[in-house]
Amino acid sequence: MPVITNIADLKRLHKCRTPKMFYDYAESGSYTEQTFRENTEDFAQIRLNQRVAVDMTGRSTKSQMLGQDVAMPVALAPVGLTGMQRADGEIKAAKAAEKFGVPYTLSTMSICSIEDVAENTSAPFWFQIYTLTDDDYNKRVLERARAAGCSALVITVDLQLLGQRHKDLKNGLSAPPKFTLPVLLDLATKWRWGIEMLQTKRRFFGNIVGHVDSAGDPSSLASWTAEKFDQSLNWDRIKQLMDMWGGKVILKGILTTEDAEMAAATGADAIVVSNHGGRQLDGALSSIRVLPSIVSAVGDKTEVWLDSGIRSGQDVLKALALGAKGVMIGRAYVNGLGAMGEAGVTTALEVIQKELDTSMALCGERRIDQLGRHDVLVPQGFFDTYS
Ligand SMILES: Cc1cc2nc3c(=O)[nH]c(=O)nc-3n(C[C@H](O)[C@H](O)[C@H](O)COP(=O)(O)O)c2cc1C
Repeated sequence: MPVITNIADLKRLHKCRTPKMFYDYAESGSYTEQTFRENTEDFAQIRLNQRVAVDMTGRSTKSQMLGQDVAMPVALAPVGLTGMQRADGEIKAAKAAEKFGVPYTLSTMSICSIEDVAENTSAPFWFQIYTLTDDDYNKRVLERARAAGCSALVITVDLQLLGQRHKDLKNGLSAPPKFTLPVLLDLATKWRWGIEMLQTKRRFFGNIVGHVDSAGDPSSLASWTAEKFDQSLNWDRIKQLMDMWGGKVILKGILTTEDAEMAAATGADAIVVSNHGGRQLDGALSSIRVLPSIVSAVGDKTEVWLDSGIRSGQDVLKALALGAKGVMIGRAYVNGLGAMGEAGVTTALEVIQKELDTSMALCGERRIDQLGRHDVLVPQGFFDTYS
C-alpha cells in the first residue's frame, strides 16, 4: 500500500488506476489551459505569515457553511461524471463527506442519480443544477432534489455552453466509454476499474437518462451540452429558479464585483468565486486573485466562498485569510476517488484538514474565524496587476 502524504500522491495513483479519458477529463482546463494553470500558480505566490510562541493548544478547524456545522469549511464541489472515475463514485464521495462532516454537492451531470445518493446516505446533500432548455425538466429535477431532502441548491452560472477541452475531443470522451481499440488497450491496464464497473448498473447519466424528453445521446457530453443547455439563462431566469426552489441557494461561478453585486441582489445565501477550475473562459483571472475585491463588495450581504486551484490545506488557509467564509474542492477529492474510492476521498479530506490545522498553528491561529489578512503575505501589486 503506497504511503499517501499529499494530494499529489493521490493524483499519481488516480492517473495509474483510471482510464485515460476520465483522468484527462478531470485534469484538464479549456483551450490553452492558462487559467487552469494560474489557479494553482497564483496560490503558490501567496505566502503564510509565521508567528511563534503563541499557545496553540485547543485548536479547531470547525466552522459553519450556510449555518450548517462543518468539520472544516471545505465542501465537495459538483463534479460531472464522478461515477466514471470509479464505479458508483458519487455515492462513495457523498459517504466520505458525510462521515467526515463536510457538505457534498451532486452535479446534474452525475452518473449516480439524486435518488441513488439519497438512498445510500443519511446526511442531506446539496444539488447543483445546470438549467436545460426543457423547462419541465428543470421543474421536475428540482422536485426530485426536494423530495430527496437536498438542503441547498447550487446554481452554476458560468456554463451555458462548454469551454472546449482539447483532450476530451481527442479521447472521444463518453459515458460509458465506447470500446475502440485505444480504449480497450488502455483498459487492459486498468482492470480493477473495469471489474468494479461491471458490478454496477450505474453507467449512464442518472439525472438525465429517462428524465429528459427526447434525451438524445447524453453519452457524448460536448454535443449534448451544446444542444440542451439553456443559453438564455440570465438574472431574471436565475431569480425564477430560486423562487421555484424556495430554499437555500448558492450561486457558483462569479468572478467580478459587478456580477457579485447582481448575485447578492438576488438574495443568494452564498456565492462561489470560481472560474470552474479553469474549464470555461480560458484567460479569465484566477479565483484567488479576484477574491478580496468581491469580499469587499458583497461580503456583508452574502457568504463568499471560493473554488478553483485548491490542492492543500495551506491553500484553504490562504483563501480563508483573504476573506472567503468557505471553499469548495473539485480535483483534490476526485484524485482521491480515482486513486482509492471512498477511502481515497476520506484520505484527501484528512490530508487537507491536517495541513490546514498545522499551518494554522504555525501562523499562531487556533480558530477559523480568527484567520485574516494578517496571516498572508502577498506580492506587491498582486491584486492590481490587471485592470
Ligand atoms: C472533472 C470536473 C467536472 C466538473 N463538473 C462540474 C459540474 O458538473 N457542475 C459544476 O457546477 N461544476 C463542475 N466542475 C467545476 C467544479 O465544481 C469546481 O468549480 C472546480 O473543480 C474547482 O476547481 P479545482 O478542481 O481546482 O478545485 C467540474 C470540475 C471538474 C474538475
